[in-house]
Amino acid sequence: MDTRYQRLVVADADLLTDFLVNGAWPFHGPAAMDRDVVRRRVEDGFYEGRESRTFWMVEGGGRVGLIRLFDLADVPEGGTPMFDLRIASAHRGRGLGRQGLAWLTGYLFTEFPGLGRIEGTTRQDNRAMRRTFLSGGYAKEAHYRDAWPGTRGRVHDAVGYAILRRDWLSGETTPPDWDDEMPVS
Ligand SMILES: CC(C)(COP(=O)(O)OP(=O)(O)OC[C@H]1O[C@@H](n2cnc3c(N)ncnc32)[C@H](O)[C@@H]1OP(=O)(O)O)[C@@H](O)C(=O)NCCC(=O)NCCS
Repeated sequence: MDTRYQRLVVADADLLTDFLVNGAWPFHGPAAMDRDVVRRRVEDGFYEGRESRTFWMVEGGGRVGLIRLFDLADVPEGGTPMFDLRIASAHRGRGLGRQGLAWLTGYLFTEFPGLGRIEGTTRQDNRAMRRTFLSGGYAKEAHYRDAWPGTRGRVHDAVGYAILRRDWLSGETTPPDWDDEMPVS
């Protein structure tokens, strides 16, 4: 089935709230989302504004996923945008995450011709997202120990991935130079 990408509009506030509040997001901050928090965020421009743009992934009239792009305001000055990609539970594991990542990567590099890189971060144990990054040509660039607060006082490691425009264009992922420690002189 074809997937369409539809920009979020103000009138979608209730749909967005339902999508987020009724969905299961075990790897995000608080596992369950609060209706008031979502509504306040809509009003504050968290999803649509100078910093952010949000898109539905739509399949046959149903909203199957959500893509929020953020840190956009600084992109013209060399800043790096980030994103949040969420597929509804019932639609996971059939390629939509991979498709959504490919779409948002193309969208950002096309919308911002001077943009050189895009970054994404996830929790270390989010296997599906980590596989999605690698499938999409993103390279692991960072590992932050105890950086992701979980529930009941637990902390998790966080991992950071990025894609370079030149890798996106060539279709070849170049790894970071990890063996770069300076010898003691
Ligand atoms: C992470 C997420 C976006 C992936 O999307 P998806 O549609 O489920 O994944 P896809 O079907 O496109 O599969 C992408 C890759 O992940 C792998 N994968 C999918 N589900 C998996 C799972 N439960 N465990 C391990 N790997 C999994 C697939 O095998 C595939 O890997 P491959 O390309 O090496 O074959 C989706 O599961 C999701 O929305 N999860 C909840 C929200 C979330 O954690 N978002 C990340 C925010 S940083």
